[in-house]
Amino acid sequence: TERTLVLVKPDGVARGLTGTILSRIEAKGYSIADLKQVYATRDLLEQHYAEHAGKPFFEPLVEFMLSGPIVAAVFEGQRVIEGFRSLAGATEPTTAAPGTIRGDLGRDWGVKVQQNLVHGSDSTESAEREIGVWFA
Ligand code: GTP
Ligand code: MG
Repeated sequence: TERTLVLVKPDGVARGLTGTILSRIEAKGYSIADLKQVYATRDLLEQHYAEHAGKPFFEPLVEFMLSGPIVAAVFEGQRVIEGFRSLAGATEPTTAAPGTIRGDLGRDWGVKVQQNLVHGSDSTESAEREIGVWFA
């Protein structure tokens, strides 16, 4: 079955929302295939976010992702990649639709990077690549 990499980013862990977020993904019907809490490293994040290297938000994004523990999970189920991104909502939490994780639980905190609680892979290729990065 299809798999995706989900990260509860440092803002989600620090706010005590890990259980709520994982629970919402399970409640939609997807299963946890792997789960751990990790501290990222710069090397790991440069691999994970390779597509964003050189963009203006890259450095603040890396600093944010190094600011505290992350919960990394592999979820599985038919069309889980698309299904999780729909559940997560739009990148910007201020305008993400209510009913989504970012829309219900996130807001703008006036900092440089979008602190938007979660990451989800955007294709089967990136899912397999990212699972390899976080669960080597
Ligand atoms: P992910 O699931 O985290 O990959 O979110 P996404 O696919 O909705 O966003 P994308 O891959 O385009 O960007 C990765 C992360 O970089 C986002 O989740 C944000 O935290 C941050 N980010 C993306 N675009 C911007 C931007 O234009 N400005 C700022 N400040 N941060 C951004
Ligand atoms: Mg992305």
